[in-house]
Amino acid sequence: MTDPVTLWRAHADDAVLLDGFHALKHALRFGAEVPVAVTADRRAALALAEELAPDLRDALDGLLAEVPERTYASLVARPHPTAVAALAVRPSREAGLRVLARVPRHAPVVVLDNPRNLGNAGAVIRLAAGFGATGVVTTGTLDPWHPTVVRGGAGLHFATVVERLTVEELPPGPLFALDPEGEDIRGTKLPDDAVLAFGSERSGLSAELRARADHLLALPMRPQVSSYNLATSVAMTLYHWSATAGAPRSV
Ligand SMILES: C[S@@+](CC[C@H](N)C(=O)[O-])C[C@H]1O[C@@H](n2cnc3c(N)ncnc32)[C@H](O)[C@@H]1O
Repeated sequence: MTDPVTLWRAHADDAVLLDGFHALKHALRFGAEVPVAVTADRRAALALAEELAPDLRDALDGLLAEVPERTYASLVARPHPTAVAALAVRPSREAGLRVLARVPRHAPVVVLDNPRNLGNAGAVIRLAAGFGATGVVTTGTLDPWHPTVVRGGAGLHFATVVERLTVEELPPGPLFALDPEGEDIRGTKLPDDAVLAFGSERSGLSAELRARADHLLALPMRPQVSSYNLATSVAMTLYHWSATAGAPRSV
């Protein structure tokens, strides 16, 4: 059996870091391929599995290799309170693009138009996973697979498609762009094949995305408040979709 540190070094350059027990739990639940997982305290990690993820107890028992605390700390930038870390194979871009292009679609695609904040992007991926959205597409320079985004997404990048595209490459479907100047969202039923676009934290929707939008929708907001946070806007919009048309698939 190859020792875990050698395995880690072999995969580290192109794999996705799963930082902490919960990220590993989510990734495994949604079918991630995990070639190596380490912990500084196997007993504690398996006790957590027993308590929070009995469905994965056996898989984690077979997967988790105990390494000395110092070795664990040398593999991650910031040790996690659960002292668990793993590497997962990043899903193929081709497969992701095929899912995004497929119609009819059973749940919307979320587009973040040139997002700037890595934590917001992670929170949106977590929301998209929770609502069973088809995927999250970002435009612009932010890498939606950046380790900080993956950390914010709690391992749920494996539960939805996550890709970066240009505005011209956006998936098919009616494009609903969210903007405080739009029509009140409460008068609109969002279809399952909707593409839901949100602007950048700093400057809102780009001119290019606005030009492509079929509808401009606003979330209710009292006068004198300028805007909501990006991730909370996505949360309200996905909730509106789920309440008026779709629903998280497992509910
Ligand atoms: C922090 S806001 C952007 C604020 C930016 N200064 C602007 O000029 O729009 C980020 C994104 O969240 C969405 N958003 C925030 N508040 C909204 C609202 N009341 N209605 C619709 N979308 C909203 C929009 O997509 C917006 O581009």
